[in-house]
Amino acid sequence: MHVLGIETSCDETAAAVLDDRRKTLSSVVLTQDAIHALYGGVVPELASRQHLATIGRVVCEALRRAEIPLERIDAYAATQGPGLIGSLLVGLSFAKALAYYFEKPLVGVDHVEAHIEAAFLENPGLPLPAVALVVSGGHTSLFFLKKRLHYRLLGRTRDDAAGEALDKIAKFLGLGYPGGPVIERMAESGDPERFVFVLPKMKDASLDFSFSGLKTAALRLIGETDMSDSHPRLPDFLAGFEEAVVRALLDNLHRAAEKCDPASLILCGGVARNKRLRRRFEELARSTGTAAFIPSPALCTDNAAMVAALGLEKLKTAKKTSSPLDLDAYPRFAITKEEPGGERGR
Ligand code: KG4
Ligand code: ZN
Repeated sequence: MHVLGIETSCDETAAAVLDDRRKTLSSVVLTQDAIHALYGGVVPELASRQHLATIGRVVCEALRRAEIPLERIDAYAATQGPGLIGSLLVGLSFAKALAYYFEKPLVGVDHVEAHIEAAFLENPGLPLPAVALVVSGGHTSLFFLKKRLHYRLLGRTRDDAAGEALDKIAKFLGLGYPGGPVIERMAESGDPERFVFVLPKMKDASLDFSFSGLKTAALRLIGETDMSDSHPRLPDFLAGFEEAVVRALLDNLHRAAEKCDPASLILCGGVARNKRLRRRFEELARSTGTAAFIPSPALCTDNAAMVAALGLEKLKTAKKTSSPLDLDAYPRFAITKEEPGGERGR
């Protein structure tokens, strides 16, 4: 059995083929960075047009690399949400058309869950229960996973996502897009202790995050010190900011681990490529005696292998769905504390 995964939730057009033993036969990711870099961030209309122009070629390339013709694809998985609605509709409609024509099942997949699934793809025996920290350009959330495909939201950002804060500061300083990798590279030679960033404290005991205060503090410091892309202390400033983002993320993860006593900690999403964050996450896991899992860098940023993997997992338990044509895209985060029992398990 072979499953074709399609991911178009933001600015990457991606397709991947997995077999039923979850082996990745191909994974193709076409980034639109060069297009959006001109504007310092993703322009939704340009993103969906670009997905439309390239989705066919990306899917063909994934099939060619896997050496599997379309006739031998037994199921389809596509990201349903959250993300840019126009972009999501391109990938989902493409998958619907294929599933309808070949009369095969189509599974709709949640993008945030797919980021977590990337850790299971490389570590099938990952011990549960686990606490997962998803950190990307659009999301910063903590989940408790009691069993497979069962997620309880512990906390989420109340304003900006961590990646968004990195991207915005890089944009303000004219350093390029996406900001996370640029900041990481420029911060390497910096001393994170030269600039002090005070972390915001939540008034309640919640595990929610907030990055807008940190961003405002960074903007104030930029003004006070005349920081610019040619300032000699730029590496120190960026190292201090990166350090503050890492601390804000891991402080909450630490509290979540104390509260839930998990067997594993998972770090995933695009920002999980960051070396400082990876290193400190592993130190935290060691200090709490918990197993640590971070997908390899290519599986942290958006890709379709994680989508196909989650599709495969969901297919195992899926009831016969009515018609793949009924699936609809959704723009917003779907797992909420407010749902019955505070959990979503499927
Ligand atoms: O998961 P992802 O590919 O897309 C979303 O679902 O948002 O994450 C993209 C985010 C961007 O904010 C980007 O700046 C950040 O991941 N990112 C990084 C690094 N590589 C990508 N942030 C810090 N360090 C990196 N090396
Ligand atoms: Zn993502």
